[in-house]
Amino acid sequence: MDYPLARLLHLAAMAAWFGAMMFVTGDVRFTVAKLGDFQGLADRVRRIRRAAKLASIVVLLTGFYLLYIMGGFGGVPIAVHVGLFNTLVLFAVQATYFRSLEALLHDSTDATALARLRWLGPSFHALWFATLVLMVFQKVIG
Ligand code: HEM
Repeated sequence: MDYPLARLLHLAAMAAWFGAMMFVTGDVRFTVAKLGDFQGLADRVRRIRRAAKLASIVVLLTGFYLLYIMGGFGGVPIAVHVGLFNTLVLFAVQATYFRSLEALLHDSTDATALARLRWLGPSFHALWFATLVLMVFQKVIG
């Protein structure tokens, strides 16, 4: 796999990851606010969770490949190192988000799960966006 293809896959996977998580957090917020159809939500979450997981793994693998092509950790700016750390934290936030969502789908009155989802969603998006900024301005930030 050469550099342009790896870069294309990296950018496409990061967009898919962002889209999947934006969709699911919005869907959860809407369903909870409207006390909507939790069974329908459960079906949608099952599909989106798979897509988010796949996209996140492709971001990580293509990121490592790009890093390898560019000469390893010494060949890329610190911003990419921090971006990698953030991505590993995003994996943990995403896993905790879906675990809390499972608890909510199991019992839609679960106040702990609801409270967790309320801050995990925005935290995921904030950290994801911070990582995007690090990546785009990696040569400026150094
Ligand atoms: C949320 C996670 C991530 C996002 C949103 C993201 C986004 C991006 C974007 C937009 C670029 C292109 C920047 C540009 O040239 O203007 C990029 C490049 C790059 N990313 Fe990521 N990335 C993520 C995770 C990772 C990870 C985990 C790694 C390493 C393991 C990585 C390694 C790289 C490298 C080495 C480049 C530079 C490629 C080049 O100069 O052409 N990225 N990333």
